[in-house]
Amino acid sequence: MKTFTLPGTEITAPNVVLGLMRIADKSDDEVRELARTARDAGIDFVDHADIYGGSMHACERRWAEAMQLSSAERETWTIQTKCGIVPPDGFDFSYEHIVESVEGSLEALRTEYLDLLLLHRPDALVEPEEVARAFDALEASGKVRSFGVSNHTPGQIDLLKKFVEQPLVANQLQLSITHSPIVAQGVSANMLGEDQSIDRDRGILDYCRLNDITVQAWSPFQAGFFDGVFLGSDKHPELNAVIDRLAAKYDVPSMAIATAWITRHPARMQVVLGTTTPERVTAAAQGSEVPLTRAEWYELFRAGGHIVP
Ligand SMILES: NC(=O)c1ccc[n+]([C@@H]2O[C@H](COP(=O)([O-])OP(=O)(O)OC[C@H]3O[C@@H](n4cnc5c(N)ncnc54)[C@H](OP(=O)(O)O)[C@@H]3O)[C@@H](O)[C@H]2O)c1
Repeated sequence: MKTFTLPGTEITAPNVVLGLMRIADKSDDEVRELARTARDAGIDFVDHADIYGGSMHACERRWAEAMQLSSAERETWTIQTKCGIVPPDGFDFSYEHIVESVEGSLEALRTEYLDLLLLHRPDALVEPEEVARAFDALEASGKVRSFGVSNHTPGQIDLLKKFVEQPLVANQLQLSITHSPIVAQGVSANMLGEDQSIDRDRGILDYCRLNDITVQAWSPFQAGFFDGVFLGSDKHPELNAVIDRLAAKYDVPSMAIATAWITRHPARMQVVLGTTTPERVTAAAQGSEVPLTRAEWYELFRAGGHIVP
């Protein structure tokens, strides 16, 4: 497993991490087996959110109840969670909501501190001074060590940065071979009439690279927005043929090739796995260091439905 020091922190982070959005109905044994398998593959970094699991903090609570971590064991994990989405109302980046959500996460996760806290999705009514006040309080009390965002544009990050003192170290964004607007737009910039050339996020990938913000790729195997995986799907025969051929060449499972398409990118992204199947964690983790060639990377990109002008 390839690791790196997450810029802006002292965290040694793997480039493949375990997302826990889907564990609400898993048993203690299933959660432990998932975690043990991840550790065996070199994954000691988990991604949560206050909203995962149907009711607030459900997946965070499921994790902690199943894991029963001692303080010493807890320190061996990097625990990240998110706040700011308030279903079904909208979003809330107020001081009160951020602090209250973190208190709820700490209690559910049975921990004294979060390694990372991300603002989950932009709040149209954000008052960045409020965010700054919340982050200052959470940092000063030792409850949160590092901060970041998710699904944010460069302008939204700049607005926060005008007031927030702490570095914003991560931006979690949707990215897979088939759902890759953050990569694809730049490849086809300036092409009138091509949907791919429409700038939907103001060059967020380049912005993150320029500002040492680590991109964390969520839904790495989903074809689109929660509409099923492309791996093995008869809706994506050409892509699966390329994936399977490369999997044979590198002697890894096909999930590893889909993972490697992201880890191969020089932006040093992290892949946030969402599978709850231990064997799939092992398979995907093998993509951490697969050295896809440029030609292979572009072939996958093209087979994923993108134009390479
Ligand atoms: N920041 C955000 O806005 C945001 C949004 C969504 C998610 N996330 C984070 O990103 C993580 C990953 O998201 P995700 O779960 O959508 O990603 P994903 O890893 O692309 O998808 C996981 C889902 O696909 C299934 N799956 C995976 N590989 C499969 C295969 N080879 N064949 C058939 N089914 C397969 C899994 O089923 P099994 O569990 O049965 O294996 C699971 O239901 C989440 O856990 C969460 O931490 C963040």
